[in-house]
Amino acid sequence: MTELGGRLRDRVALITGASRGIGRAIALGFAHEGADLILASRKRQDLETVVNDAEHLGRRALAVAANLSSEADVNELCQRVEEEFGRLDILVNNAATNPYMGPLCEATPEVFDKTLDLNLRGPFLLIRRCRDLLRRSPAASIINIGSTAGLRPSPMLGIYSISKAGLHMMTRVLARELAPEKIRVNTLAPGLTRTRFSSALWAEGREERAASLIPLGRIGEPDDMVEAALYLASGDSAFVTGQVIVLDGGATA
Ligand SMILES: NC(=O)c1ccc[n+]([C@@H]2O[C@H](COP(=O)([O-])OP(=O)(O)OC[C@H]3O[C@@H](n4cnc5c(N)ncnc54)[C@H](OP(=O)(O)O)[C@@H]3O)[C@@H](O)[C@H]2O)c1
Repeated sequence: MTELGGRLRDRVALITGASRGIGRAIALGFAHEGADLILASRKRQDLETVVNDAEHLGRRALAVAANLSSEADVNELCQRVEEEFGRLDILVNNAATNPYMGPLCEATPEVFDKTLDLNLRGPFLLIRRCRDLLRRSPAASIINIGSTAGLRPSPMLGIYSISKAGLHMMTRVLARELAPEKIRVNTLAPGLTRTRFSSALWAEGREERAASLIPLGRIGEPDDMVEAALYLASGDSAFVTGQVIVLDGGATA
């Protein structure tokens, strides 16, 4: 990375699903720009390497193990933020799951619930619980990580697509609802990106075909998401709320 910047100096950011992939890239991008971090995912050990990386950038970082589909864990996570940092400026709802690939009508109610519980109810719970902290920030920004699957159905990913379309709409609903409190709410919608989550779509010889469907000729990298996240987190986007920024190499053009 280039020289350390200060676009998020004195800000505190909570990022879910920060142990790897897109969440990790955004967390380190924020640390690089001066933010202190609370990093959440289920496996605390995996978060510790990201904590170390952020500390090497001179930032304070805290790892909290939490299953974001559990209300008790969400409450405990927010309590830790209050106790340890006493403030919150940026919330990135990034953790998500996709336990099922196949036709919607052949899915079980259990996989439907599991997907919606984390991808849609999780951000709802976290935003609801963090609202008081965020409204006290002079520059509050919520960034939901949606997906191009939320814009048009992704074959065999019906439940996931529904969950992300719901998250995009939640962004718009909350942008209006929280605007009087000066809390901005936006979505980043990545297209296919090289992470463990999506490996079934690009690993084991599938990458060339996947890339051929993308006008810019390659799949995304987690670092491709960082500048847009910084834009939405910082004062550069002070007049932007309720929007979806698509980062997909032109796949939905
Ligand atoms: N990769 C893509 O092609 C792509 C495309 C569009 C959108 N997205 C979106 O980008 C976001 C990040 O995905 P990614 O590709 O970076 O995935 P990833 O590399 O698999 O990372 C997922 C992260 O979420 C955490 N997580 C999973 N279940 C959790 C739970 N129940 N509670 C708390 N944390 C949980 C994981 O850690 P633990 O396992 O330790 O919990 C991990 O830190 C997701 O919202 C995804 O829908 C990805």
